[in-house]
Amino acid sequence: MSKITPYLFGVTAATVTILTAGVFSAIISPATKKSNLPVPSTPEQAAAVANVIMQSKCAACHGVYPQFNGLSNLLSLGQVKRDIEGAQRAFVMAPNGDIRHSDVDFRKMDQVLRTRSMPPALYTAVHLGSGLTMDDVTLLRHHFSEDAAIRRTFSPIRPIHMTDAEFVAQVWGIPAEAAARTPEVMQKAWAKVYLGRRLFHDTRLSTTNQVSCASCHDLTLGGTDNLPKSEGVPGPDGKPQLGGVNAPTVYNAASNIRQFWDGRAANLQEQAGGPPLNPVEMGYSKPEDWNEIAAKLKDDPEYRILFPLVYGEAGITAETITDAIAAFERTLVTPDSDFDRYLTGDASAMTEQQVDGMHTFLNYGCATCHGGPTLGGQSFEYINTHADLRAHAEGYTEGAYGLQDFTRKEEHRDMFRVPNLRNVALTAPYFHTGTVSKLEDAVRIMFDTQTRTTASETQVENVTAFLRAQTGRYNGKPLDELQQADIQPNFDSTQLPGNSEQTTEQE
Ligand code: HEC
Ligand code: HEC
Ligand code: HEC
Repeated sequence: MSKITPYLFGVTAATVTILTAGVFSAIISPATKKSNLPVPSTPEQAAAVANVIMQSKCAACHGVYPQFNGLSNLLSLGQVKRDIEGAQRAFVMAPNGDIRHSDVDFRKMDQVLRTRSMPPALYTAVHLGSGLTMDDVTLLRHHFSEDAAIRRTFSPIRPIHMTDAEFVAQVWGIPAEAAARTPEVMQKAWAKVYLGRRLFHDTRLSTTNQVSCASCHDLTLGGTDNLPKSEGVPGPDGKPQLGGVNAPTVYNAASNIRQFWDGRAANLQEQAGGPPLNPVEMGYSKPEDWNEIAAKLKDDPEYRILFPLVYGEAGITAETITDAIAAFERTLVTPDSDFDRYLTGDASAMTEQQVDGMHTFLNYGCATCHGGPTLGGQSFEYINTHADLRAHAEGYTEGAYGLQDFTRKEEHRDMFRVPNLRNVALTAPYFHTGTVSKLEDAVRIMFDTQTRTTASETQVENVTAFLRAQTGRYNGKPLDELQQADIQPNFDSTQLPGNSEQTTEQE
């Protein structure tokens, strides 16, 4: 839940009026560099003062009802309109639906306060007293908990162990203690993951029996196909049909706020229902087609044991197939990268250049969007705030407008789900367009489009080096060294009740 939202809006109309009345003159009097606001002594007072600062110095542009007085409009010559529009796009101090999330908001707030980039310089030049004083900055940073914001910026990926009862409980949907106490439940949980893994690699989910999830999300290729546009089942001309956007990695996808570039799937299970019924990907098109898929899967002796074991009476359905795939995908986490080891105290795990790159990444605000354990995946962001990504990334996908394609809301046009940057060295080509093949170029483009700066070549190289430290491990092996044999499940299906014969894997 967004914590910032209640702070920003928790201020009641009454508080604003009373406090504003008292400090208003202080705020509009020429900047003295010293805030005249009362020194807060309790956390409640600090919160109230912080709210006053924001109401008087930020809400004009970022409030739910942004406003200017006529005189300011006149003085700032049209800039005001642009400022309000920009501010409303960047950061609305309101619960604007369910999309924006707290950690990203915190990090953005921390970034503008740390770099003192808000309110915009042009605005404070015209609106005397609207600039933040040092005291204001201190108070606001404290209010938005500077330490917490930084701590939230980066954190290591948590590994999954075979015996991790919490994880098993999540897969199985029961309390962790119960899972730990019941070997049978543990076994069922792993049976589910094993089943999901087989389904993920099963081409029978496609009309031609040629395309599996793994065709486009190869676990030995960073969970992608390394193609600009993915190749699905053949079209009328006999050639594979191409998807409209680049395939993101399935590694660590479980921690995405929503799935797909446009966020149209709420979670992994919902997502997994998409490709089979996508005429361009796996070729089916109608919900009834699941029956045909189920019929094909019933031919498989191992599935005939696994589905009843894991799902009882429910059998082989769209619901159980996608549930098992999602359970498997939740195991696709990649801990133990050089960066993770650096974060957990091994200072030598990253080179000096990589550490430099990390600081640049932080200082230039990359981490406001690419933060958290997976460096991204937590918010939808405009790709054209300072410059249009599509112009820089050469080539764009006709008709792909990000979140708007899902919500149909005008204000969501060009907002894309931020990709996670774990293992990004392995997931080329980049962007939803799939048109940028070198990581250096992707980094340079991000500087151009998402920050107000053009980076030096050294900065680009350092940040790229830092991103190369994101390559983690799966099943204990570095992702860039994984072979098909390494992604075999660590689970003995011959031990399943009712499965006496040795079974073979169908790929
Ligand atoms: C004159 C209008 C204006 C005022 C006043 C203003 N801002 Fe902004 N703000 C903008 C614009 C325009 C943008 C987007 C463009 C940019 O980032 O430069 C923005 C962006 C932001 C962002 C998002 C930055 C990011 O990295 O995405 C935050 C957070 C923010 N402002 C906070 C504040 C705070 C806090 C205040 C008060 C201290 C404030 N703003 C006052 C116009 C304003
Ligand atoms: C023909 C290639 C293809 C096949 C087959 C395919 N995918 Fe994908 N996958 C894609 C593309 C392309 C996207 C991005 C689509 C979009 O965002 O609109 C995607 C997106 C995803 C995502 C979202 C990741 C993110 O960061 O948002 C997940 C998870 C995923 N696929 C899993 C699967 C699973 C599970 C299957 C099998 C049931 C599957 N895919 C089959 C190409 C494919
Ligand atoms: C305002 C949010 C935001 C900021 C700040 C930001 N990014 Fe991004 N980043 C995105 C979004 C959104 C995309 C996906 C764009 C698309 O494909 O349309 C992206 C994509 C990327 C990609 C490509 C990943 C892939 O798998 O395709 C890389 C690499 C990247 N960013 C690095 C950076 C670096 C380095 C910085 C700092 C210079 C940065 N980003 C700053 C939002 C942001």
